Amino acid sequence: MGAEPKLTAEERAMLAGEAGPGVQRAMEIVVALGRIYGAADLVPVASVQVSGVSYKNLGEAGLQFLQEWASEGARTRVPATLNPAGMDLVAWRELGFDEEFARRQVAVIEAYVALGVEPAATCAPYLTGGVPERGQHLAWAESSAVSYANSILGARTNREGGPSALAAAITGRTARYGLHLDDGRRATAVVDARCPLRSEADLGALGFLVGREVGNGVPLLRGVRHEGLALRSLGAAMAASGAVALYHVEGVTPEAKDGVDLAPGHRELAVDDLAPAYDALNGPAEQIDLVSLGCPHASLAEIEAVAGYLDGRRLAAALWITTSRATRQVAEQAGLVARIETAGGRVVADTCMVVAPVAGLGFRSMATNSAKMAFYAPSHSGLSVRFGPAEQCLEAALEGRWPEPPSRPEGRWS
Ligand code: F3S
Repeated sequence: MGAEPKLTAEERAMLAGEAGPGVQRAMEIVVALGRIYGAADLVPVASVQVSGVSYKNLGEAGLQFLQEWASEGARTRVPATLNPAGMDLVAWRELGFDEEFARRQVAVIEAYVALGVEPAATCAPYLTGGVPERGQHLAWAESSAVSYANSILGARTNREGGPSALAAAITGRTARYGLHLDDGRRATAVVDARCPLRSEADLGALGFLVGREVGNGVPLLRGVRHEGLALRSLGAAMAASGAVALYHVEGVTPEAKDGVDLAPGHRELAVDDLAPAYDALNGPAEQIDLVSLGCPHASLAEIEAVAGYLDGRRLAAALWITTSRATRQVAEQAGLVARIETAGGRVVADTCMVVAPVAGLGFRSMATNSAKMAFYAPSHSGLSVRFGPAEQCLEAALEGRWPEPPSRPEGRWS
């Protein structure tokens, strides 16, 4: 355990309880983390993204913890948003969610609102709100959002837990260690990607393999030509099979363009074949009950691509495209939601199939284009999973069974 982080006068006052017991509790958490990780001091954060929102994961103890913190007068002092909840907060009844679950989930959201957190429940806050700038310090919790903020935007955040992110929102500070420091952002592994990367699923498969190898390290990838939002599936998968919170792509991501320092003793790896990832992430299901797209939460362009694919066609299986409330509203105004619903699909806001209580909705098998979703859904949601590009998943939704790989190899989503 390290020494006590150096505190400013304002931070010492918060720790002494001068801003009330709720703020004191938050500062105690931030300082304790600083002590554990040897932080020299605290750093102000520009925004916070809080995890621990689904009642399925939080339970009654978690809800009471939030309500108690709010009753102590704690309030956020920087912009803070939520991770996905356990259901669509508007359409939960028609989607088949349980009444009692919905009541408890609404209570969780109300507790967060009382604490001052915006009830925008999404794992992709960078698509709808203030986009963090390069070098800005954040306290974000959702692993794919952390990966995106660090790697694609060049902002700086550790992978926070639910309480530590909330404590950062209440104090406006986080402990300065790990990825807030230049040293923590050096590459611990150089990965030569020699395999073709034709779709978002291929990028996810690569991420699955790399994350499994590098754990919580910082990989520098060579041979990846995709950029921006197309890299989300790669980062989300590395954060799931490993705990990668920052990666660099040579010639693409902002810090890599400036030249990434290599950590002493860094490893050299190569990926020639994605088949081991597809084998590991594909179960035996032939019949498909549900197709889930939108992990991480779908962008407007992704929803538009689905609408275009489905025009004039009729689905045999359920199709849920998960996204943020704000993106859904824009998609609705653009007529995309109606086009998808005409085919029999749904654009579902505020949730996803990992944090929703899927077992109670009657689905047993699912197809997804997200390696992260394919990794978590069997254990978190009890689903038998098929994993492949979006086109293959949409064909599965149209046929109600897992089809052969699509004839067009180039995915529109990459
Ligand atoms: Fe987001 Fe759920 Fe995937 S939180 S990244 S849609 S598992």
